[in-house]
Amino acid sequence: MTLDENGQGFSTRAIHAGQPADPTTGAVNVPLYLSSTYAQEEIGKDKGYDYSRAGNPTRTALEVCLASIEGGLTAHVFGSGMAAIAALVTLMKSGDHVICGENVYGGTPRLFNQVFAKYGIEFTYVDTSNLEALQAAIRPETKLVHIETPTNPLMTLTDIAAVAEICHSSNGNAGGVELSVDNTFMSPYFQRPLELGADIAMHSTTKFLNGHSDGLGGVLIGTKPEHTQRFDFVEKAVGGILSPFESWLILRGVKTLAVRMRQHDVNGRAIAEFVSGHAKVRRVFYPGLASGPNAHPQYELAARQMSGFGSMITIELGSLDNAKAFTRRLRVATLGESLGGVETLVSHPATMTHAGLGAEGRAKVGITDGMVRLSIGIEDVDDLIADFEQALAAV
Ligand SMILES: Cc1ncc(COP(=O)(O)O)c(C=O)c1O
Repeated sequence: MTLDENGQGFSTRAIHAGQPADPTTGAVNVPLYLSSTYAQEEIGKDKGYDYSRAGNPTRTALEVCLASIEGGLTAHVFGSGMAAIAALVTLMKSGDHVICGENVYGGTPRLFNQVFAKYGIEFTYVDTSNLEALQAAIRPETKLVHIETPTNPLMTLTDIAAVAEICHSSNGNAGGVELSVDNTFMSPYFQRPLELGADIAMHSTTKFLNGHSDGLGGVLIGTKPEHTQRFDFVEKAVGGILSPFESWLILRGVKTLAVRMRQHDVNGRAIAEFVSGHAKVRRVFYPGLASGPNAHPQYELAARQMSGFGSMITIELGSLDNAKAFTRRLRVATLGESLGGVETLVSHPATMTHAGLGAEGRAKVGITDGMVRLSIGIEDVDDLIADFEQALAAV
């Protein structure tokens, strides 16, 4: 288990980092500071906060906690995962170049192509599991490589350490190209991008970090003082910050991250085995399957790079009609967008997360109409198996 410099383990930091008992009242939970502004003792003298767009004590507690559990220097939380991804490129200028993994959450290329490309920032999409392709795509103007591993929904892995090496030895300067890793699917409990050499870890905190499907958010965890300055400035100048209430909800959720992730992993393994052996399921995408017809081609990398396999599983049911028949019959699992909550959520990438890619874009990356993505929750796994069994009977 990852220890910080004081020797504290992951769960201890998730529960305590940035969250001392309130000095005024002794409250063990960080209060919800619903204040847009702060009284100043005299001109030029405040208590560290002047206006909540720039900083809020509940948000600070969350940022300290997330930096600690991800093993970073600094964390900045934004109003959604998309706002966090936007913050990565906000200060780039026309002519700068970004390489993005080619099969990532659909909102990421939508943001890059339909918003930032208009400002002259250039984007190239590469299968980052192919290191030669990545190396070949790097140009003198490349500033950032942004990857997601495992990818959504095909569960393709990228070797973070190898990509970090390529990024840092490129463009002939000391820092090279920066690498950011969307770590949403695995959470810092199972995957440690910064320890593998990435410069920035990113999450949609809406998912596993919060864990209860009751609030949106996003975070960038950086490793350099320059990240602190840059993202402080983006928070203040652009204003896409996370509200105190949602900061408080995520702080509450993160306290149980380790126990939730362990149960997600146990349930995920059991469901992956179940669907893998089911006649109605044509293919299973899950990094924890070592053998059999659905063995993950990058199992060895998954076992090396992650300390668990998580609970994201994609299944191929053969057609849109089959996907509809299956999802219509679900009783315990819920059909809906999103992932990472305590409840099992089932989504249909072609019409939900990846609708924006268009049929051609989906075909290019291999997303079919018959694919269904499962985000396995922490319910009793026998109930989930029974639910999937009866729903698959409709296929
Ligand atoms: C891997 C990944 N990254 C980023 C996002 C965007 O996050 P948000 O919905 O919080 O804006 C999502 C949303 O589903 C996601 O799955």
